[in-house]
Amino acid sequence: MTTTHPLAELWDSDPDSLYLNHGSFGPSPRPVREAREYWSRRLEQQPMRFFCREMEVELEKSTAVVAAFLKTQPDRLVLIDNATVAMNIVASSLPLSEGDEILLTDHEYGAVKNIWQASCRAAGARTTVAVLPFPPNTTDTVKAIEAAITSRTRLIVVSHVTSATACILPVAEICQMARRHRIPVCVDGPHALAMLDISMNELGCDFYCASGHKWLCGPFGSGFLWVHPRHISTLKTPVVSWGGSIAGRPPSWKDSFQWLGTRDPAPLLALADAIKFFNPERLVEYRRYSHELMTIARRQLLDIPGVGPFCTPDESDFVSMVAVELPQTAGWKPGYHGHPDALQTKLRERIGAEVLTGSWNGHRFLRLSAHLYTSQQQLDTCIHAVREILTEEAEGVCQSPKDS
Ligand SMILES: Cc1ncc(COP(=O)(O)O)c(C=O)c1O
Repeated sequence: MTTTHPLAELWDSDPDSLYLNHGSFGPSPRPVREAREYWSRRLEQQPMRFFCREMEVELEKSTAVVAAFLKTQPDRLVLIDNATVAMNIVASSLPLSEGDEILLTDHEYGAVKNIWQASCRAAGARTTVAVLPFPPNTTDTVKAIEAAITSRTRLIVVSHVTSATACILPVAEICQMARRHRIPVCVDGPHALAMLDISMNELGCDFYCASGHKWLCGPFGSGFLWVHPRHISTLKTPVVSWGGSIAGRPPSWKDSFQWLGTRDPAPLLALADAIKFFNPERLVEYRRYSHELMTIARRQLLDIPGVGPFCTPDESDFVSMVAVELPQTAGWKPGYHGHPDALQTKLRERIGAEVLTGSWNGHRFLRLSAHLYTSQQQLDTCIHAVREILTEEAEGVCQSPKDS
């Protein structure tokens, strides 16, 4: 395989950094950055024209492109800054009573758990957790979630592709099962955009929250909330503003979510350009190229003593992001948000590599990402350093003051 993809030059990557954490924050290629800059410039040139006459029309155009990409209707979709804001809208909208339950899985993202815990606390409700099989295969995953449903379950919240464990969950099957119990499902989907084909109407969920900045390489600050028509009239915004069209067009359910006070909507408008950039051939190419890189990287990692396959035992279980389990050598302490595992810090300090490490359910993991700008050499360099650091850990040498 080629060691650098010809499209890599479209990303403005820092040459001093080995950026292998697209899964957390994914940078955009040049055409997408240029589109975002175009819209910001247009706003600055004549703010009255832009906000009062152009913005709503342009948002609808961008929404139509996103909707076509997701094989759904534009009137089920509102462009939102990111998955976190979208999930907060769902949480603000769901009526909860004392004793009600929101069912999550043990793979859910920390901020998503916080959102639902806060909303449950305010209502005297509680979150419950379905512990998925390890690794989470389709049949047993659906069964584990079904077994955790009670008469008080009001919503199931599930990732399409999980964050720490980087596994693809069977959301269509989960939605099918939930429908039998008449329980709505909210899918947390930022990693699934571009990584997987999504036919939103066929997925069977009630809400879908996503960010454009991950595998789709949309601008930071772009995302959407997809809502099944049966829930649209119940949606409430956590940010109260004018609630009507600024251009004076007929009212729409999206009005409360589009004008959240004065802000630059350029990322939302340029989200359409990320979809145009990933014309079908490029989408296939991103998946092929990144999967090949991740497959080689995973084989190399699994060759290091003590490293295991974690939640994705098969090479068909992942696309462009893979997590492996690391040995818990003496002195290892679980990292947490903002306090990375010592391996993550050492990789950055020694070779300028940005990766994700951490602990999940008592397991220590390393997660790597690849996109069209990632090269084989970058991954080789990183994995060589991982092997070196884990060997030092095992031998109890090279304890930097930061480890203590
Ligand atoms: C599974 C999952 N859900 C939600 C989020 C939140 O995304 P954002 O910060 O773009 O809102 C992330 C971010 O990494 C994630 O991995």
